[in-house]
This record gives sequence, C-alpha cells and structure tokens, in this order.
Amino acid sequence: MSAPILDHSVDGIEELDNPLPRWWLYLFYLTIIFSAGYVVYYPSFWFWPGTSGWSQEKQWSDTKIVKTASAAVEVSLSALAAKPEVLDAGKKVFMSTCASCHGNNAEGKIGPCLTDSTWKYGNEDKVILETISKGRPGGMPAWGTFLKPDQITSVAAYIHSIGNTTATPANATTPAAATPAAAATPTATPAATTATPIEESK
Ligand code: HEC
Repeated sequence: MSAPILDHSVDGIEELDNPLPRWWLYLFYLTIIFSAGYVVYYPSFWFWPGTSGWSQEKQWSDTKIVKTASAAVEVSLSALAAKPEVLDAGKKVFMSTCASCHGNNAEGKIGPCLTDSTWKYGNEDKVILETISKGRPGGMPAWGTFLKPDQITSVAAYIHSIGNTTATPANATTPAAATPAAAATPTATPAATTATPIEESK
C-alpha cells in the first residue's frame, strides 16, 4: 500500500488517499455527458419543451385513441389507418381471422373482394365496424365476441385502407357490370381452365 495516509483520524481510524479507479471515473463522466443530451432532447425544465417533441399528454392521447375508438365511433377509420402501428395490428388480425375467406390480399374467395369499389353494405366507418362485429346474413360471421374491441377497430382501419384500391372486382361473384372490354379477357381463361377438371371428374 503506497497510498498516503490523510492527516486526519476519527477515533483512531485513518483514511488512505486512494485515487478513484479510471474506469469508474470515465463512467461517471459519461453519465454526465448523457444527462446533458437527455436534458436537451426531452422536456426537462419548466421552460424547456425538449427538441424531440415528446410529451406525456401526446403519448397518452395517442394510446387512448386506439383503445376507445371502438366504443365511440367518433374517431375516423382513415385517421386510425394513418397510424402504421394500427395498420400492422389490423393486418395481423386480417391474416389470422379473415384471410381464409377473403383471401390473403382481400382479393375475395368465399367472402367478397374487399379491395375494389363494389360494396354490398358499404365502406363507411360505421358500416364496416358493424359488418365485422355483427356479421352479415350472406355468410359473414359476427366477430364482436371473438375479437377484442381494439382488434376490431384495427382490422376495420385496415379494411378501410385497402378498400377502393383496385378498380375491377378480382372475382366476379358480385354483379360485374363493369367495363366489358376489361372483363372479356379474364373470363375467357377461367372458363377454359375449369372445363378440364369437370370432364375429368365425370
Ligand atoms: C367464414 C368466412 C368469412 C370470414 C372468416 C370472414 N368473412 Fe367477411 N364476409 C364473408 C361473406 C360470405 C361475406 C358476404 C356477406 C353477405 O353478402 O351478406 C362477407 C362480407 C364482408 C364485408 C362486407 C363487404 C361489403 O361488400 O359490404 C366485410 C367488410 C368483411 N366481410 C370483412 C371481414 C373481416 C374484417 C373479417 C375478419 C375479422 C372477415 N370478413 C372474416 C365471409 C367471411
């Protein structure tokens, strides 16, 4: 022990003058530098809002919008659809719950195509939410008890976002009085391909 002894003692207990370990000292300086950055980036003093724009109130209302949307349909689906995290959640629900009938890209299978502009019941916010939670007589199950409220709103926002994005119905189960010119080529091919299996099965 080469550290010098400080020239004070309490009840005969003396103190060595050891320097702080280097690593400890540098860590300490680092925390000071970190805190300086933190103070600038986040709201830290009563007069300083921070450069990040983060605020408790903002975070709280962001969370609240998603949670309360299903109870009060005031919040528009397009506003919800503008939030990537809501769309992500909605797409997950769609892939696990709806895709089996409506197709992976909502192009339509047992259930109708949901990306075109043909709507039997409508794609207004209230109607979409009602279709999903209460179901429809033509084979659309009611999901109101199966899905959580925020799952229903997020999948509704997803449906809203993909609606009216394709022009002609992908599968023409709905009365396709669309452009005959465009419909002529697609219908020719399916007719030819379905003809073969029918002959084989007989
Ligand atoms: C068991 C198959 C099935 C599943 C699963 C299913 N649907 Fe449907 N869906 C249908 C059928 C069939 C219709 C047509 C109902 C009718 O015409 O009355 C429909 C209709 C709809 C409509 C109305 C479309 C319009 O033209 O107005 C929407 C919206 C819809 N489904 C969304 C969903 C969502 C979202 C999910 C997942 C939570 C889902 N569906 C799951 C079969 C299904």
